[in-house]
Amino acid sequence: MGQDRPAVQATAGPARWVRAGPAGWVTAGVAGEHGGVLDNVVPYLTCAQCGAGLVRAGGSLRCRAGHVFDIARQGYVSLIPAGARVPGGDTAAMVAARADFLAAGHFASLAAELGLAAAGAAGTAGRGGRPDAGAGCVVDVGAGTGYYLAAVLDRLPDRVGLALDASRFSLRRAARAHPRIGAVRCDAWRRLPVADGAAVLALNVFAPRNGAELRRVLSPAGRLLVVTPMNDHLAELVGPLGLLTVDQHKPERLAATLGPHFELAARREHRGVLPLDRKAVAALAAMGPSSWHTDRPALAEAVARLAEPAPVTLAVTLSVYRPTPGL
Ligand SMILES: C[S@@+](CC[C@H](N)C(=O)[O-])C[C@H]1O[C@@H](n2cnc3c(N)ncnc32)[C@H](O)[C@@H]1O
Ligand SMILES: [Zn+2]
Repeated sequence: MGQDRPAVQATAGPARWVRAGPAGWVTAGVAGEHGGVLDNVVPYLTCAQCGAGLVRAGGSLRCRAGHVFDIARQGYVSLIPAGARVPGGDTAAMVAARADFLAAGHFASLAAELGLAAAGAAGTAGRGGRPDAGAGCVVDVGAGTGYYLAAVLDRLPDRVGLALDASRFSLRRAARAHPRIGAVRCDAWRRLPVADGAAVLALNVFAPRNGAELRRVLSPAGRLLVVTPMNDHLAELVGPLGLLTVDQHKPERLAATLGPHFELAARREHRGVLPLDRKAVAALAAMGPSSWHTDRPALAEAVARLAEPAPVTLAVTLSVYRPTPGL
């Protein structure tokens, strides 16, 4: 990733990005200091309280009714209704493990394939949709560290991206993952703080799927890209490390959650065998849902007993959905 990424100009202190893009947008801000990169995505965001549009006012976003959302020092904004209980999402330890694992490039082939699929799907959406090529953002629901969204944006130089997640620790990373990402804390199971039809592409990679909301925020000509694990994903680690097994009925569940709102346009499998060292295996176990249930010393012992490198199966499906017409 990153070869065609815009120039990143480092100054003393936090990173500063300055770029005039093909669609005319300009970013001049400091990530972590009033969330400069959020400016790219503010036009697509809505108030968590009343649903109105938002504008930037210094270190906050505000709607016309006066609801105010402060931008965190780390560059993301929480768009959560007052008093709402929102899940914490991934913990600091899970996010650190995910960042380490992904930075080592073990899932780079998947990111590359997702980038290619996104470029193809955005082309389709552009032809059938708005005449202005740069209109419509890319929304990643459950974006984690922003790794896959960054890969997709590298392929789409005139788009900006919206990383949505419940985890503050994920969002701190996502806000810095790419100069065109704006990071927003929200709950995927509630109304998303995103305008109707704002997205030309939506991504959902190993993350919660709310079909109705994904459909609402996607433009009618937009596409939804979903990555889900297959039955044999990470199979070699399930027994030795006591990892949670993949639900045998996942494809049916996928169809059931998205079914009324989306229809399948294309699906392909992405497979490989990763030769993982013990450090990578430990990170893989620590970044996933099993980490909620596993005792750390027992996991370390189990990892130490594995052969090195351990061959581990990567087996996922990449599905492209279009909104069901007439709904
Ligand atoms: C398995 S991780 C996948 C992250 C990223 N897509 C990736 O593959 O690297 C699932 C992500 O969903 C987020 N998440 C879990 N529940 C959520 C919710 N209710 N609303 C928003 N995000 C949520 C977690 O914080 C986590 O970042
Ligand atoms: Zn409002």
